[in-house]
Amino acid sequence: MIKRFFITIITITTITLSQSCTTAIIDEGTVEELPPLNRTVTYQSDVQNIMFNRCITCHGGSAPQSGLDLSTYQNTRFSAEMGSLIQRMNNATNPMPPNGLVSPELRQIMDKWVTDGFLEN
Ligand code: HEC
Repeated sequence: MIKRFFITIITITTITLSQSCTTAIIDEGTVEELPPLNRTVTYQSDVQNIMFNRCITCHGGSAPQSGLDLSTYQNTRFSAEMGSLIQRMNNATNPMPPNGLVSPELRQIMDKWVTDGFLEN
């Protein structure tokens, strides 16, 4: 009886995990199709939330993926300015997060953060 219970739990866990890794890449359109963003973007107002909602589960904590910790302004800025953060967030064949690009609206906000000069607040 107990054995069957554990087999059921393991099966459910396996199915859930395998589904979360095979989420289809949904094309929600491109940034170019959006009207221009006519406001200033800062780390505090927008970018921090995007990182915490979409990236921190892997790029945070004591052992961040690829050694990239995106939980601070400095690190996020460094990766956007000197690393591949913006490229990976816009690369449909090698996306970050790995299960598919975030919406064009969020990617437009990240692009605007770059052109506005990586403002903190
Ligand atoms: C499900 C876990 C996961 C999530 C969520 C995730 N990443 Fe990653 N990320 C990885 C892994 C694993 C790698 C290393 C393999 C690779 O580069 O594809 C990586 C690599 C990267 C790299 C390349 C780092 C380097 O060393 O050059 C960048 C930049 C990056 N991620 C940014 C992001 C951003 C920005 C987000 C959120 C929008 C994000 N990631 C969300 C798992 C994740």
